[in-house]
Amino acid sequence: MRLRDVGPGDVEAYLRMRCDPVMMAELGGPQPVEGIAEKVRLDAERTAADDWWVRMIVPDGAPPEAVAGTVTLWPHEEDGVPISEIGWMVLPEFQGLGLAKRAVREVLESADRDGRWGLVHAFPGTGNGASNGLCRALGFELLGERDTEFAGRVLRTNHWTVDPARINSAS
Ligand SMILES: CC(C)(COP(=O)(O)OP(=O)(O)OC[C@H]1O[C@@H](n2cnc3c(N)ncnc32)[C@H](O)[C@@H]1OP(=O)(O)O)[C@@H](O)C(=O)NCCC(=O)NCCS
Repeated sequence: MRLRDVGPGDVEAYLRMRCDPVMMAELGGPQPVEGIAEKVRLDAERTAADDWWVRMIVPDGAPPEAVAGTVTLWPHEEDGVPISEIGWMVLPEFQGLGLAKRAVREVLESADRDGRWGLVHAFPGTGNGASNGLCRALGFELLGERDTEFAGRVLRTNHWTVDPARINSAS
């Protein structure tokens, strides 16, 4: 697996990830197709500016346009406090291969080298077995449950945090 920055050509991958009821089952349901091209444009712009990191997961041996999933690290405010948040998605045909875990680990290692992100937060749905398993495996600390807004919907989530300098690199 390798990571590359999101680009304007990634609309199809976003549609498959964000507008699919199965992919979005733990994220409040599919998003409207209409907003996706603008979302890709914005994500590519923010990533090119190095403000957000939206990285596309490319399987081993595949060309760069072959997308297995994505990891996003972005700064924003939660309850009026600036935080760094990380999120991830892997398409169904690539799930269960350890790609999400490898990709999230790689982004957190880069965040540690970069030094600006501080403590990183993740808010997977409380019923999201794979995402909560991934947080546990990488050494995130579980702070508890909370309601979190994602793409305009409020979800019941677990609240995990990790110091990128202290991720579990052995798992
Ligand atoms: C969540 C998701 C990214 C996981 O991707 P993946 O590449 O299949 O995950 P990995 O193979 O890297 O597995 C990650 C860890 O979760 C564990 N896991 C996988 N499925 C699991 C499940 N159903 N229940 C419990 N643990 C599970 C794996 O065993 C692994 O931990 P381990 O290495 O200690 O065994 C993927 O299923 C997905 O995109 N789902 C839909 C969108 C979504 O929910 N995104 C996350 C929002 S927070």
